[in-house]
Amino acid sequence: MSKIKTQFVCQSCGYTSPRWIGKCPECNSWNSFVEETSTASAEHPRALGARAARNGEAIHPIRLSEIGTNDEARITTGIVEFDRTLGGGIMPGSIVLVGGDPGIGKSTLMMQMVRGISLGSKTLYVSGEESPRQLKSRASRLGIENDNLYILAETNIESVLDAMKQMTPDVVIVDSIQTMYRPMIESAPGSVSQVRECTALLMQMAKMSGIPIFVIGHVTKEGMIAGPKVLEHIVDTVLQFEGERTHAYRILRAVKNRYGSTNEIGVFSMTSQGLEEVANPSEVFLSERRTNSSGSAVTAVLEGTRPVLIEVQALVTHSSYSSPQRTVTGYDSRRTAMLVAVLQKRLGAKLAQSDIFINIAGGLFIDEPAADLAIAMAILSNQLELAIDPTACLIGEIGLGGEVRAVPQAEVRVAEAIKLGFQHIVLPRANMKSMPKVAERITLRPVAHIDEVRATVL
Ligand code: TYD
Ligand code: MG
Repeated sequence: MSKIKTQFVCQSCGYTSPRWIGKCPECNSWNSFVEETSTASAEHPRALGARAARNGEAIHPIRLSEIGTNDEARITTGIVEFDRTLGGGIMPGSIVLVGGDPGIGKSTLMMQMVRGISLGSKTLYVSGEESPRQLKSRASRLGIENDNLYILAETNIESVLDAMKQMTPDVVIVDSIQTMYRPMIESAPGSVSQVRECTALLMQMAKMSGIPIFVIGHVTKEGMIAGPKVLEHIVDTVLQFEGERTHAYRILRAVKNRYGSTNEIGVFSMTSQGLEEVANPSEVFLSERRTNSSGSAVTAVLEGTRPVLIEVQALVTHSSYSSPQRTVTGYDSRRTAMLVAVLQKRLGAKLAQSDIFINIAGGLFIDEPAADLAIAMAILSNQLELAIDPTACLIGEIGLGGEVRAVPQAEVRVAEAIKLGFQHIVLPRANMKSMPKVAERITLRPVAHIDEVRATVL
């Protein structure tokens, strides 16, 4: 038995130190060091990976042209939204980390994926969280009756690897990586050393056998997958399953993808029959909109490469506090404060004594400034109690001078708005150059400053 030593490991990035330290010099997080014992022979995952690649053979560089892309060997999951996020299906030998808050629907998504891929292929579902009985009841609720799905309730990663060798499945799901452990490492399951070691072993297995492996990882309260940096480096693809648990919508986002674009998202809705694909997110996000009500504006944002129309709502009320409240859901609050200041300074809007509430309908979080114009106009609309033209869609970033700035891919956004029946599209003047011709009933209104917008939509 090899010598046991202890070390302090940062639980956020995996940095190791012989002594306890308060602040990690690598990732700057505080109080993240935990003492872990490790056996001196435990191999460094990077060394493992390197050996897996070489596989003990002589090193032969290959001509680029002789390497196939292997795209034809991708396995489709039967879920269009999921395939798109993966970059066109599951790549053989890839390892995909599926992260997200507990209860968001990761296990459900994996189970539903099985329904599509198991037709003819053997899937091994390794569960360290739920008993086979629980999995069975979920599967039958989701209508999965498949003889090619095998369940293994196991947390010892070595047994999991043995099972994979014996069974040679076509796809493996490990739910979750935080419950797996390797006996020779003494720290608890879920610690950085265990998570990293187990993932590295799975990676080695995936590369050698060509079996794609999905690894589920819970997100810690800081919003990161345990040992995030270490894991992100090891795996091929990181998918993040996001959404508010109080809303039905879920977005599957590729955060890293060695086999596809990271701009792709899949939109789902959680129902009593499991996750349903949302083929046209815009329709869903606009479905509950009340037209002709003040404080509501529609904009087109990009979620990955897809344009999505969303409704922005604003409520402006007289404040009974000396410092008025500004409550923003679904958008950057500092950006909103900036928009309020621009409205005050450039349009003379009287907002200093008003509480302002902003909400992005449907529980989405928008992280691009192209929604600025819609938010500013929704605020103004509610303050003046004038409804915005219900057939108008507002696109544009606002600068401190009140100027309306160009947004990326304006054509794509405009096309989506037209597709959903919007007839007046307000867009930055600078984007007009790249705009194709539109049908006669559609008006494109190029604007350069917010004071031009007011007259066109209110
Ligand atoms: P789950 O997949 O267990 O989440 P995770 O693996 O990410 O922790 O999903 C849990 C939630 O999903 C749970 O609160 C119940 C809900 N759910 C439905 O609403 N409908 C369904 O058909 C299923 C299976 C789950
Ligand atoms: Mg689960």
